[in-house]
Amino acid sequence: MRARALDAAAEERRDNALLTKAIAAYLELLKMNDRLSDQRLKEIGERTLDRIRFRGNYMGAEPVYKLLINRFPDDPGYRNNLSISYLMANRADLAEDVLKEILQRWPKDRVALAHLGFVLKTRHNRLEEAVDLFQKALEGDIGPANEPRFYYHLGDALLLLGRYEEAHQVHVRGAKLGHFLSPSQRSLYNVERLKSRPWWNLDETPYTKLARSLENSWREILKEGNAARAMYEEEKEGLKERGEWSQLDLFVRGQEIPERCKRAPVTCSIVRREAAAAGCRRGQIKFSVMEAGTHVRPHVGPTNCRLRMHLALTNTKNTFIRVDKEIRQWETGKVLMFDDSFEHEVWHNGTGARLVLIVDVWHPDLTPAERRQLPSI
Ligand code: LMR
Ligand code: MN
Repeated sequence: MRARALDAAAEERRDNALLTKAIAAYLELLKMNDRLSDQRLKEIGERTLDRIRFRGNYMGAEPVYKLLINRFPDDPGYRNNLSISYLMANRADLAEDVLKEILQRWPKDRVALAHLGFVLKTRHNRLEEAVDLFQKALEGDIGPANEPRFYYHLGDALLLLGRYEEAHQVHVRGAKLGHFLSPSQRSLYNVERLKSRPWWNLDETPYTKLARSLENSWREILKEGNAARAMYEEEKEGLKERGEWSQLDLFVRGQEIPERCKRAPVTCSIVRREAAAAGCRRGQIKFSVMEAGTHVRPHVGPTNCRLRMHLALTNTKNTFIRVDKEIRQWETGKVLMFDDSFEHEVWHNGTGARLVLIVDVWHPDLTPAERRQLPSI
């Protein structure tokens, strides 16, 4: 009763300190689990887990799951959820052990198959095995693992293996199921009604003024981008197949990084004048430098809520960018605009380090309320 009272008060007052007390009281109660009926243990255990997850303390869920697994050893659900909590807590090592245990006993458990596929792909780069597991998990496009992210990772693993035709088939399936906007537009954080097109003409957007200002100042922007070269950070998402690719963020998720903007005052003062750029919480503003010989493999961005502008700054000869089916080239001092939720790929077959300024802007179809309220990415 004490736990429930604290829980109710925490909810009513939206009070995290009370919620912490409520969770502690539930955990006390669960210590006496041998005196609780199956039904009570389930109820109290699940409420405790819900509250622990709400607080974002994923490792805190571990003892509760262990209790439930002990009492209900024949239900793979609790083991699966424990492994998901481990993944949320960035403990793929622990998740992997639990998933392997589940599959020893329930070799066809689709949830475990899909999550182990995810762990093998992202933690060990064991792509063939990951593909096999995903394929089993998604066979017939039915079952509890039928989720956008697993189609995304299966397709991505196939792309990484160079199995392009199979990847395409998976993307077609994913799009048919409504997991992707289309086979080539595979972002997972979308607003449905936005105009979808890979390449955009600036004239069809409200961003011509921003683009012209960037183009008019491209030489100064180039100077600022070059002067800050020591601060660039290597791209770490594993998108480049070979070569060198580094970036310097100036704005991230709609927030300026003031120490960086001090180094690039002209660049930042221009983008600050366009709220849809400086305030784009689903994008970034950054310099991007790519060494000759680099190939960025086919990939998609996370959301269809932004469009991406590139101001080309230097060494753009023999560099290419494909977005969906169309390959284009940068032209020094000019802005290109595309939707990076479509599959895209970059080649630097020229010489010298290619530099561009990337400016993400809100998709023009988003309402002011959406721009304020969409969670940032
Ligand atoms: C990308 O957005 O993936 C690339 O176009 C970035 C770049 O520097 O070309
Ligand atoms: Mn990209």
